[in-house]
Amino acid sequence: MEEKTFTIIEENMKWIQEQTSEFAKLMTYYKCAIMEIETKFHVLNEEFSLEHDRNPISSIKSRLKSPGSILEKLQRRGFENSLRSIEENLNDIAGVRVICSFPADVYALAESFLKQDDITLVTKKDYIAHPKPNGYRSLHMIVEIPIFLAHEKKSMKVELQLRTIAMDFWASLEHQLRYKKETEFTDEMADELYQCAKISAKLDERMDNLRRRVLGERSCIIESYRQNV
Ligand code: GTP
Ligand code: MG
Repeated sequence: MEEKTFTIIEENMKWIQEQTSEFAKLMTYYKCAIMEIETKFHVLNEEFSLEHDRNPISSIKSRLKSPGSILEKLQRRGFENSLRSIEENLNDIAGVRVICSFPADVYALAESFLKQDDITLVTKKDYIAHPKPNGYRSLHMIVEIPIFLAHEKKSMKVELQLRTIAMDFWASLEHQLRYKKETEFTDEMADELYQCAKISAKLDERMDNLRRRVLGERSCIIESYRQNV
């Protein structure tokens, strides 16, 4: 192999290695942001449990978008392939889903979380008050949270979804059914899913009414936040 060709390959390899390690670093920052958000919700859950003797959070599921999905989304949306472009244009690299017991818990937790002075709300979409046409319900937010590194503080964007167990049940099954490629998804099937979404919304409403009757109106407010407002 010619000396010159060898140098070009070597330089390209170096460039790929640099990009790979910078990409890994960025993914680690997003992972840290997920950890920060998870901790905040664990803390709220603890405090809430102490005051009301029940857990408002049923579970928390987090995920980092895969490199393949990141590249696919950049291309699909016509954004440049670079680390800066990922940070600027994609809001859902880090995702945290908080599954709550009752609809009132979703709003109480969202409010307590957003009041924290290191959280910046970027966008909020309330698909509970305004469900999607297919029946999908959840409270979506893009938030910015700082992570503290050895020599710098970095603000990271995280996609946050809060929903009840009933909303999560419907969304999980809908996702499994809609993305099956073997059979065509007919209008009749979509309507059946929509009817199921309505039943799930009714179920949430009835359970929330029961909560009020059994535990009282104040059974989903965090006292310390209420006093500080
Ligand atoms: P992207 O499509 O991710 O770019 O986001 P968007 O700006 O359209 O955001 P939106 O807040 O509407 O949805 C983002 C996420 O919410 C998705 O990645 C899913 O996790 C969830 N989601 C939204 N709509 C549906 C739905 O109809 N069914 C299910 N199962 N999940 C949904
Ligand atoms: Mg997404």
